[in-house]
Amino acid sequence: MTTTASPQPSRALSFDRAAAQYAAARPNYPDALFDAVEDLAGRPLRGARALDVGAGTGIATRRLLDRGARVVAVEPGPGMAAQLRRDLPDVPLVQGDGNRLPFATASADLITYAQSWHWTDPARSAAEARRVLRPGGTLALWWNVADSTVPWIGAQEERLVRFFGVEPGKLGRGIAHGSATQGRALPPDLDFTYRRVPWTRSVPLATHLDNLGSHSAFLTTDDEAARGFLAEERALLLAEFPDGTVEEAYVVELHAAVR
Ligand SMILES: C[S@@+](CC[C@H](N)C(=O)[O-])C[C@H]1O[C@@H](n2cnc3c(N)ncnc32)[C@H](O)[C@@H]1O
Repeated sequence: MTTTASPQPSRALSFDRAAAQYAAARPNYPDALFDAVEDLAGRPLRGARALDVGAGTGIATRRLLDRGARVVAVEPGPGMAAQLRRDLPDVPLVQGDGNRLPFATASADLITYAQSWHWTDPARSAAEARRVLRPGGTLALWWNVADSTVPWIGAQEERLVRFFGVEPGKLGRGIAHGSATQGRALPPDLDFTYRRVPWTRSVPLATHLDNLGSHSAFLTTDDEAARGFLAEERALLLAEFPDGTVEEAYVVELHAAVR
């Protein structure tokens, strides 16, 4: 296990200021991901008592519902929670935190964290997941990682690394050098299985830029500098995609463990 410091609360909740943009621009998850979750859980999603923690605007929540799971969304950020409430008014929503799940012991068949595990304190969230899962229940953590083996994405990755002044591989985004998420403090006492699910989507350039700008690194950076970076990206990507449609490529990295 790689040990990481607990994330800064201000950054963890930075999405609140961009909830509508997040809901409109962030990528969804492919069907094959949910097939893989069922496979690793050894049971169908239909009828499963699922907690979608760090549910955000409900992108994964909706997909779990579509597969027939009985989902409760758990989200600490008021802005994200309000957006989820608008988009999925009938879904039970608890304003809560993965570090302190407000649920009874052994009450869930499945706990999912779609791009949200890394915002928790893994020592506390892992203990909570173990407590709230029934024996035989599954903890599933996943991340949509931009596929930086695709040349234009790899080049964009290098620009992001320069802009934010971080070491290559530290954005948690590119997978050119292997898994981007293996080091994300997976609980050592659970036996995780790892699956990769590649997929693509075609979106207008404006959506691609809104997607990029909805990441916490941008949301916690000086607005003017962020706008400048995104304007330069726009010009570069128009040269790459003259018709204004960007083909984004992802690998969903899934880690699932049965309690
Ligand atoms: C990148 S978003 C992911 C949202 C959604 N699951 C999705 O797939 O789009 C991360 C979410 O984690 C939430 N979050 C931050 N700290 C958290 C914590 N300690 N426990 C649970 N969720 C947290 C944020 O408010 C945000 O909505």
